[in-house]
Formats: sequence, C-alpha cells, structure tokens
Amino acid sequence: MCGIVGIVGKSNAERIILNGLERLEYRGYDSAGLYVADRTSDHLVKAQGRIKNLEEKVTSEVTGTIGIGHTRWATHGKPSEMNAHPHTSANQALVLVHNGVIENFEELHQEYLSNHQFEGQTDTEIVVHLIEVLKEQDNSTTKAAFKKALSLIRGSYAFALVEKNDPETIYVAKNKSPLLIGLGDGFNVICSDALAMLDQTTHFVEIEDGEMVTVTADAIEIEDPKGNLVYRESYEAQLDLTDIEKGTYPYYMLKEIDDQPTVMRRLIQEYQGESGEVVIDAALKNELLASDRIYIIACGTSNHAGWAAKSILEKLTQIPVEVHLSSEFGYNMPLLSAKPFFLFLSQSGETADSRQVLVTINQLGLPSLTITNVAGSTLSREANHTLLLHAGPEIAVASTKAYTAQIAVMTLLAKAIGDEKAVPEALDFDVFHELSIVASAMEALVDEKAVISQFAEDFLSDTRNAFYIGRGNDYYVSMEAALKLKEISYIQAEGFAAGELKHGTIALIEEGTPVIGVITEEVTGSHTRGNLKEVESRGAHTLVIVSQELAKATDQIILPNVHPLVTSLVAVVPTQLLAYFATLQRGFDVDKPRNLAKSVTVE
Ligand code: M6R
Repeated sequence: MCGIVGIVGKSNAERIILNGLERLEYRGYDSAGLYVADRTSDHLVKAQGRIKNLEEKVTSEVTGTIGIGHTRWATHGKPSEMNAHPHTSANQALVLVHNGVIENFEELHQEYLSNHQFEGQTDTEIVVHLIEVLKEQDNSTTKAAFKKALSLIRGSYAFALVEKNDPETIYVAKNKSPLLIGLGDGFNVICSDALAMLDQTTHFVEIEDGEMVTVTADAIEIEDPKGNLVYRESYEAQLDLTDIEKGTYPYYMLKEIDDQPTVMRRLIQEYQGESGEVVIDAALKNELLASDRIYIIACGTSNHAGWAAKSILEKLTQIPVEVHLSSEFGYNMPLLSAKPFFLFLSQSGETADSRQVLVTINQLGLPSLTITNVAGSTLSREANHTLLLHAGPEIAVASTKAYTAQIAVMTLLAKAIGDEKAVPEALDFDVFHELSIVASAMEALVDEKAVISQFAEDFLSDTRNAFYIGRGNDYYVSMEAALKLKEISYIQAEGFAAGELKHGTIALIEEGTPVIGVITEEVTGSHTRGNLKEVESRGAHTLVIVSQELAKATDQIILPNVHPLVTSLVAVVPTQLLAYFATLQRGFDVDKPRNLAKSVTVE
C-alpha cells in the first residue's frame, strides 16, 4: 500500500513523477504529494484524494531535476492533505516519503522528539524529524544520520529521502515493502513497482531488505546493513506499456474480465511441453511428491482461488490440501503434518499477511512455492519455487483474471504431479484441452454483457444486501462472487454454503432480498434448488447461474459445459460482470473502491 516514485537527473521531474504516481494509484488513493527541486528552487505540493487533485495544484513553476512522489493509503492519521507525503523535518531541510508501518514510532517520539511539534499524525513525520535530530546530535552527514535512524526503526518501510541542500541525490532504503531502482541514461529512477517507470526505463535493480542505496544521476551505490558495498545485476522488465493501458475500456476491471480467455490460452502456451506434458521444474515436482499435505496460504480473492483449487489438487494428486487465511495462520498455526508443503497464492506477491507466514516457514526450513502474477516480487523471491500466472498486470483493485489464472495454474500443477504419481484421474484428464474449452466458454460468457447488465439492474442496483449460495465448488465460487460484489458496489453480500442457510442465516431473508444460486454439480444441484425454493417462499428474489447440462427453462444465466473439475473457472465470470454492472449502476468508481488498495503491504 502506498506508492513511491522518484527521479534524479532529468528535467521536468514533476511530469515524470505525476505519470508514475498515476500508474501507482492502485496502491492507494487517499492523498498524494510530490517534492521537486533543482539548484535554484524547490517545491512541495500535496493534495487530498486522487492524483488528479495533485495534478491540478502542480503549476508551471513547480519544476525540477530531482524529485520524489507518493500516493497514500492511510495507516497512521486520517486521509488529509496534512498527512499526505512527502513529510519534512523541523528545519524543512529533509524531505521523506514512506511506504510501510513504523512499529516503534511512539517510542522513537518519546526518546528523541518529545519537544517536537508535528503537522500531522503519521509515523513518517517522526522518522524525518528523527533523521534531522541524529544529524545534528552527531554532527554527521545526512546519509550517516539516515543509516543510524534505520538502525533504530522497527517495522516495514520503503523510504526515499532528499536533502534540500543536495538536489542531486536520493537516499533510499527498504525493509519488507517493495522498492526498485530503474536505470536510465544520465538519470536514475526509483519506484514501488516497475509499471510506474516503464516509460523511462525497462532496466531495474532489486533492493533487498536492510539495504540502503544512494541514487544519483550517474550511479547507484547499494550498501548492506554492515555498510559493505553490494553489486547487483539489473534485469529487464518483461512488461509492455500497452499492458497497462485501458485502451477503449471505460474501466480496467472490464478489460481484465475480458482478458480471461486470452490468459487461459497464454497459460496453455506457457506450460505445455513438446510432448504435451505440463512443464514444471523437476525440483518442485519432487518436493511436492515427497509431501504428505499441501497448505495453501492466501488472502482475499487468492484465498478463494485456493478453495476452488482444493478439490482439483486433491483429486488429481491424491495429496490432502488445507486452505488457510494468511492473517490467521501466521499467529495461530495448526499442527502440521509430517511433510508439509506450503503453497502461497498472491497476485501481487507483496501481501504482508502472506509474507509473515513465509518468513516463519523459511525459518522452519519447510518447502514452499509462490504462485504469483509478478515475477521478482517479494513472495516469489523468498519462496523456494515460483510459478507465474502470466495474466498481464492486474490494475483494478477487484481481482478477476488473477483468480481464474491461479485456479488454472494450480490445475496444471495438479496434473503434472498426478501424472508423475500415475493417479488415474490425472492420467484421464487432458488439462490443455479442458482449459481451451474453458477459454471458449469464458468468451461466450463475456459476450453476454448486455443480458448480465440487465440482471444486475433487476437484482442488485437497488439493494442493501445480497446472498450467493452454492455447495462444494459452487460454495467456493459464491464466496468469491460475494467478495467481488461487496468490495466495489458496497452491497452487503455474503457467499454462503446453501445447506447452512436453514441453520440460522435464513432469518435475514426478507421480501425482495436477492439470492443468487450457483449450480454446476449434479449431485448437489437439486439440494441447492431446494434451498432456493425455501428462500423464495420467504420473499427472496432468486437468480440461478447454472451449467447448461443442469439448466431448467426458468434459469437465468446459463454456463457453457466444461469439465466438472474446472467449473469454477466459468461460473465466476458472470458474477464478476454482475459486480461490475451493479457498481456502475450505483454510481461508484469500479476500479478504485473506497478504503481499499490493490497491494496490501501492511499486516
Ligand atoms: O496480491 P494478493 O493476491 O496477495 O492480494 C490478496 C487480496 O488482498 C486480494 O485478493 C483482495 O482480496 C482483492 N481486492 C479482491 O478483489
């Protein structure tokens, strides 16, 4: 959460920073700010709300050859202009932006800054004041004071610091929060995500936790926590600017829903070997083959993808699977099996709740895999293995194509392991053929926008609450469908196990309450239909999403038939569209829902 950009060595730094911040807006959009300077002047501009508000305040005088910028998702202190970054030291000589949370900011305040006045309530302001105090106290350089401050700080951070008297250097440091250095010709940049600076460079250098970097126009100097210089090769970002443009779409979410058939086909290409086998690294396969239980660790939509893949993994590999919420697992670890294998699911690869579990798993020396959309992300670097989603950047806060890509990649993995173990269900399952059928089915569903928009209007545009119900995999899809609906339309939605309604929750059904049934399994379908009848007789307004082979004449949304193992991949698509259209009809911003950010880098 929060996005940082910076540049040194190029004129019109303010433009580059504003463009970069716009591309990082998915990381938070409570407030934004920038600081730019050159040898003759400097400017600090901040605004509450979106980047466009900041842009309106950046007049033609606001220009420089060095600068840092920030888009905020509030942790300490309410979203306001006062709490927007950059923050300055008491004497205004130091300027700092920060992504993360300083856990001991109150202790630092008491010990070093009890007589200081602060403008806002952020932990970041404490840090920039602290650097100034340490600099004066030790009569040291800004760099030495910054280093000393880092040694006193506990928590997560990506920092970028500029000193007014030296408008040629940016000092950066990171711990647990993402930060990259981008290499230019006669200039260098910093950013929380390579996406932000792709129009400036495609060559980036990763920074490791605990390192500090001095960035000037011609050089970068990385130091480890002991002060040793570190040399690290740059890598070329495999991203294209067109991947991050909306094109003719009104919202990223709609583009990303439409991308799903293409992503399925790309995954077939990426994972299919010459003899039709699933290409998975042998070391990863061996670790999974040696394991007696798979623990899936993930949050939000990724957690729901874990649930959707549980039965696929179990059926094809015959290895039991548990699915856990990262935020619960880390501090409340269940008894582990004798040979556990940990599978981290994360679109961004940066989610702090998941990362704290991975840190523990690594301390225990247990094997791990991260399935992520972002190569080089923290969870990818820190796990033993990575499988990529190849979904292309997902910008909308509401995750869509990453969910289906995660299920598809786990299906491919399950097939590879099942084949090795000669599990009959795996040998009989032609995964590439089945995923290509899924791609066509998704295509047919995304073509139904007009019809689905009408259902959204009829069922959801004007409701306070709604239920999705189903059994088995249809229940897991219901959980994801409800999350999608609530996070962007603000309808209080619940995904419920259909059979559980009568054990309490049916009391919430009133005249007109929308209840959407998901039915793709023959064995449980008739029971879910029975549950729909029960709520109808209590006034619910019911809608059925059903596989073609199980459909009745009165059902509303019909899913093309796909293999029974992978029905979640298609059943979720109309629910994504229902959430999208309901949000538009209710007049909210689809891509940037209130209180949320795309990449959740605080616990
Ligand atoms: O990047 P991750 O997959 O680790 O993110 C996990 C959740 O924060 C994320 O899926 C969140 O629930 C989405 N906003 C849901 O649409």
